[in-house]
Amino acid sequence: MATRAVPPPSDEDAASAVVLRAGDARDLAIVDALMGDAFDPAYGEAWTRTQCLGVLALPGIQLVLAFVDDRPAGFAMTRTVLDEAELLLIAVATDARRRGIGTALVGAVIADCIAANVATLHLEVRAGNEAVELYTAHGFAKVGERRAYYRGRSGVAHDAHTYSRALGS
Ligand SMILES: CC(C)(COP(=O)(O)OP(=O)(O)OC[C@H]1O[C@@H](n2cnc3c(N)ncnc32)[C@H](O)[C@@H]1OP(=O)(O)O)[C@@H](O)C(=O)NCCC(=O)NCCS
Repeated sequence: MATRAVPPPSDEDAASAVVLRAGDARDLAIVDALMGDAFDPAYGEAWTRTQCLGVLALPGIQLVLAFVDDRPAGFAMTRTVLDEAELLLIAVATDARRRGIGTALVGAVIADCIAANVATLHLEVRAGNEAVELYTAHGFAKVGERRAYYRGRSGVAHDAHTYSRALGS
């Protein structure tokens, strides 16, 4: 993926354009910091630094990083196997939300998958996560449920819902 500048929504935000670039395991510190900031430990959705490092070393992993004013603002991590891909994680810094960065990241993931001839993009999300709004706006439809899939710090379990979107013509 080449570096992309995503136009700001209006002239008022001209100083805060989002810049996207591909990342890899060398960006682990950025991913780890965003992970710690973005995910509420109540839900058990975040990955540890060790888990991230292990996944970033796997074949077929794509990492997209978002920057605003040269500051890390978000990331998305996807795994592709043959013509299927899964959006594993997406996160935007808490102080950078509702400014279209999540939209830009999902759009970049979808564009990269289409360019790689991926037929179906899957994802899994905690039931009740506000990210569902973002996913449905990008054409994802619910295809399944996994009961008590996430377990947060307090031990309370949360269901996961699976979504997918066909990317073929
Ligand atoms: C989900 C997340 C990535 C969205 O990032 P974002 O940059 O704020 O998203 P955007 O600004 O592009 O929002 C796009 C749309 O998604 C929906 N949306 C995003 N956050 C929402 C929220 N908290 N409540 C309701 N709708 C929301 C809205 O429809 C929004 O459009 P609008 O702002 O015009 O109303 C961010 O909230 C996040 O990092 N959450 C914690 C990590 C997480 O749970 N990731 C998903 C599971 S891996």
